[in-house]
Amino acid sequence: MVSQTPPVIAMLLFLFILTEVEGAKKSSKVKLFVFGDSYVDTGNFLNSASYKPPSGITFPGNPSGRFSNGRVLTDYLASFLKIKTPTPYMLRNWSEIEFGMNFAHGGTGILDTLVDGPNMTVQIDSFENLVKQKVFTKLDLQSSVALVHAGGNDYAAFLQRNHANIKDIRVFTASLMKQMSINLVRIHSLGINKIGVGLLEPIGCMPPLTMASSYDKCIEPFNLVSQNHSQMLLQTLQQLNKQMGKSVFVTLDLYNSFLSIIATMQKNRVENSTLMNPLQPCCEGVSLENYCGNVDEKGAKKYRLCEKPEVSFFWEGVHLSQNGWHAVYMILQSSLRKLKGKSF
Ligand SMILES: *[C@@H]1O[C@H](CO)[C@@H](O)[C@H](O)[C@H]1NC(C)=O
Ligand SMILES: *[C@@H]1O[C@H](CO)[C@@H](O)[C@H](O)[C@H]1NC(C)=O
Ligand SMILES: *[C@@H]1O[C@H](CO)[C@@H](O)[C@H](O)[C@H]1NC(C)=O
Ligand SMILES: *[C@@H]1O[C@H](CO)[C@@H](O)[C@H](O)[C@H]1NC(C)=O
Repeated sequence: MVSQTPPVIAMLLFLFILTEVEGAKKSSKVKLFVFGDSYVDTGNFLNSASYKPPSGITFPGNPSGRFSNGRVLTDYLASFLKIKTPTPYMLRNWSEIEFGMNFAHGGTGILDTLVDGPNMTVQIDSFENLVKQKVFTKLDLQSSVALVHAGGNDYAAFLQRNHANIKDIRVFTASLMKQMSINLVRIHSLGINKIGVGLLEPIGCMPPLTMASSYDKCIEPFNLVSQNHSQMLLQTLQQLNKQMGKSVFVTLDLYNSFLSIIATMQKNRVENSTLMNPLQPCCEGVSLENYCGNVDEKGAKKYRLCEKPEVSFFWEGVHLSQNGWHAVYMILQSSLRKLKGKSF
């Protein structure tokens, strides 16, 4: 006898199926994989300033491996994806790896820099080895997101090696682009389908350069380097997406985000002079020979902090404060939504 399913049971079945689907969604949680420099590093540079005071004074309250007083872009992206910040690669044997892994290392770049750390190629090698060892499966990676940001340290190294000669810089930008493109294709071919790529920060706004104008304005020729780099990177990402026939690469425009936040903070300050100058770092050495975090032989501080670290933009010479990163995160919302693909 063929009986029709009573409506109530059909309804229950339907609810059951819905709940199952929801459950399945939750168990195949998104993971975040991070490659690049100190802007996205959350603890791979052991024994660096990121693990010494006054790093982390705002969050989590003590030094935690971040080059900031608190959270950095990686933390905000993780919270956007509703997961915890992925563990740094260097701490992998003692940590949860269910949220992915952070391979980014402060001071490094696309090519080799002045800091002896793993360049982006080596970072991707480490990731590849873990994939080969099935620490992360293809299924894990399908629904995962990658965050990639580097370039600032490459230019710092170039300018130092060439005594700040920006004449040959276009050739250098082209070589960075070539390597970046190889790196991005590699990350995708290892199985990640959504990759957020940071455009270059305006290097002419870094406090050591704006100090000459008493932190009044950014240095245009240096910002042009960042602008050209960002323009070429944007074109590279568009080309790669076209080749792949889908939007794998999502642009995170740090260049314009930084400039727009700085401009807004400067404008607000015209109306209220008690607000903090966005180009002035919160943490500074007491003299030119000292930098943020310096202590003398007796352990006495050779640096000073601004009154309210939580409202600064720059934390120290090159890194943003938590407030700075939060403001960047707010501006990047619509781009970040593109990282949340159909797969979750
Ligand atoms: C983690 O464990 C692996 C495998 O036992 C080992 O090869 C590696 O050196 C360890 N890494 C660290 C940072 O201790
Ligand atoms: C990255 O570092 C490795 C190891 O030091 C080196 O062999 C390689 O040439 C570097 N790659 C780039 C693109 O600079
Ligand atoms: C930036 O690009 C413009 C136009 O393509 C070019 O004229 C200029 O020389 C470039 N500047 C730098 C610093 O690379
Ligand atoms: C100026 O900014 C400070 C915060 O630094 C705030 O407490 C104060 O109310 C502001 N003054 C005006 C006139 O908006």
